[in-house]
Amino acid sequence: MSRTDLSLYEHTGGQLDRLCRVAGFDGKDRRHLELLEGLLGPGGGNSIATAPEWNSNVADDTTPIEFSLAFDATGEYVVRVLGESVGATAPGEFLETVAEPYRLDTRRLDAIADLFLPHEERQGPFTMWYSLIFRPGHEPKIKVYLNPQISGPTMADSLVHEGFRRLGIDAAFDPVIQHALPRGELDNFAFFALDLDGGPLSRVKVYVSHEAAESADVERAAELVPGIDPLHIREFCAVLGGGKGPFEGRPLISSYSFVEGDEGRPSNYSLYLPIRSYVPDDEVARARVLAIMAQYDLDGTILDKAIEAVTERPLRHGVGLIAHVSLRLGDIGSGITIYLSSEAYQVMPPGRRTLLGELR
Ligand code: TRP
Repeated sequence: MSRTDLSLYEHTGGQLDRLCRVAGFDGKDRRHLELLEGLLGPGGGNSIATAPEWNSNVADDTTPIEFSLAFDATGEYVVRVLGESVGATAPGEFLETVAEPYRLDTRRLDAIADLFLPHEERQGPFTMWYSLIFRPGHEPKIKVYLNPQISGPTMADSLVHEGFRRLGIDAAFDPVIQHALPRGELDNFAFFALDLDGGPLSRVKVYVSHEAAESADVERAAELVPGIDPLHIREFCAVLGGGKGPFEGRPLISSYSFVEGDEGRPSNYSLYLPIRSYVPDDEVARARVLAIMAQYDLDGTILDKAIEAVTERPLRHGVGLIAHVSLRLGDIGSGITIYLSSEAYQVMPPGRRTLLGELR
């Protein structure tokens, strides 16, 4: 069976299953596959040989799935899936099917969902994304992403502000604006996300995209979280993005995480660097990721095993397999996450490397 005879679910399910085995799943627990199939929805059955009828923004080639490996400070890691339901399905349908069996706590989502649900005139690029989080021997976790741009850019700030109010973190709104959105139309709320497990460490996260930002812009954003040393941000930008910016390809993204007890300030900050815009191909991206992993004493062989789980293509033949890399800092735990594309529909062509002979 050639690769393109597969359905979207079969293709992404094979990738996810191999990733979970890298992470230590023994193959008895099939819930990662059931959840992936449910998340994809009816469109998961379509062949990847034919052009998709939807245009998911989860990944550049419109695949509605993206994988990630999230390392914590001890070197342990989880496998995650970011995804969007496709085909004939309503927003929230997947959630309804998993809420009970996975004992999700949807109270915070229920409190704010109406702000971010589409109606006739509202047309954003997405309504609801999900993430699935798998750790061997643990219950799968589920997180939901809503779109602050759902009613257009002029409404985004007030929707997020109202969301903060309803979730008891109103006092943090102005500080977030001052630290992360001081540059007018260049800084925008991009996602509003909620962990769906109960408990004191269950997070509310807000994401801000920064067009054409410099390292200094995201260093200032990070400084809203007490105790963060902005040098870590600067080094991350230098090693993965190749300098201090301005990052004029795909935007840097910041996120703040709030947990129980956070009112005026978030507990954590994360920086997402879309490395695919700043490297010619994935071989260069891999080298940069290995450099930052070594810096933080993480096992780089895991990256290579994960890459082998999702693709057989030579890394130099395309760009965007490694889509983003993120650095998370703060009281509720620091770590690094590497995002891997499924490339179900397309491999983005590589750029041209700089040749030493051209330098003088
Ligand atoms: N593809 C979108 C982007 O690059 C959304 C997205 C997918 C994203 N995975 C992400 C954003 C990881 C930040 C981090 O913006």
